[in-house]
Amino acid sequence: MVKNNGNQLELTDFSVETEVFRRDVIAGLSADRKTLPSKYLYDKRGSELFDAICEAKDYYPTRTEVGIMRRNAAEMADAIGAGAVVIEYGSGSSMKTPLLLEPLEKPAAYVPVDISREHLVEAAERISARFQDLPIMPVCADFTRPFELPEALDSDAPRMAYFPGSTIGNFTPTQARSLLQNMYDETNGGSALLGVDLKKDVAVLERAYDDSEGVTAEFNINLLEHINRELNADFDLETFEHRAVFNEELSRVEMHLVSRVRQVVTIGGTSFSFDAGETIHTENSHKYTPTSFARLAASAGWKVDRIWTDDRDYFSIQLLVADR
Ligand code: TRP
Repeated sequence: MVKNNGNQLELTDFSVETEVFRRDVIAGLSADRKTLPSKYLYDKRGSELFDAICEAKDYYPTRTEVGIMRRNAAEMADAIGAGAVVIEYGSGSSMKTPLLLEPLEKPAAYVPVDISREHLVEAAERISARFQDLPIMPVCADFTRPFELPEALDSDAPRMAYFPGSTIGNFTPTQARSLLQNMYDETNGGSALLGVDLKKDVAVLERAYDDSEGVTAEFNINLLEHINRELNADFDLETFEHRAVFNEELSRVEMHLVSRVRQVVTIGGTSFSFDAGETIHTENSHKYTPTSFARLAASAGWKVDRIWTDDRDYFSIQLLVADR
């Protein structure tokens, strides 16, 4: 069905992806403690907002990580060695990719992996224009599940997983271990360069995930807009607010959407009731100490070979190698 909405055509889409999205949303909101999968935060608008978060004054991770990369580029390149295939997990707009490709000695190929096809293709083109001799082999996939690498890839070249941005922190330790195991397999027990955010003062953490410019709040609320648009739902965006709290016991910042009022929301005909103050849990960002992360890495077959940090010890970049 295509209905004419002013001069903007609105498509009602029953593609498989939409059905999976619907099923995930309904399952999440049917749970005792409501939750929504964070991957749905990253529609076109969400991906743009996420890029804006990375530039927000209160969001220290990106700036800190980029600083660490710049300062230690030569050392990192040296530790990684020549001729590596770089597989980037969740490459998004590949903003941090040149920081690694620039210093690396004769990388064999760049394989960006991302679920957002549009972002992936745009980014691959940008990287390809900048690194003209480098084979670029984008893979559109959900990197949280095992995926096939392009057949054209040289099977003898050493492989490295690149995973900046502390995205590893968005997984529970159990999920993170399984992702690290997948990386181990997909790199044939090569190496991995990961951004890992470190535990620190709670006020600094909570401000980073509820920035004073309100970008993170908008990013979180956009998830409801995404559901309204694609699943024919009627979330009243004004009645939900963003909240970020540090959960000390689980060492993670939790992102929630809090219903300001008691209300009923319908999603394509299915109703969900909310109490005033009831929350939808949308994302976690786990914070590690060097010790707790080393333990996690070890559980997936990796050994921490090198660790680089900033002078406040806010963030770390860790080089993992096979622990054999
Ligand atoms: N990997 C980022 C982080 O944990 C993702 C992120 C930043 C995020 N801000 C967010 C996810 C707000 C959800 C909501 O730092």
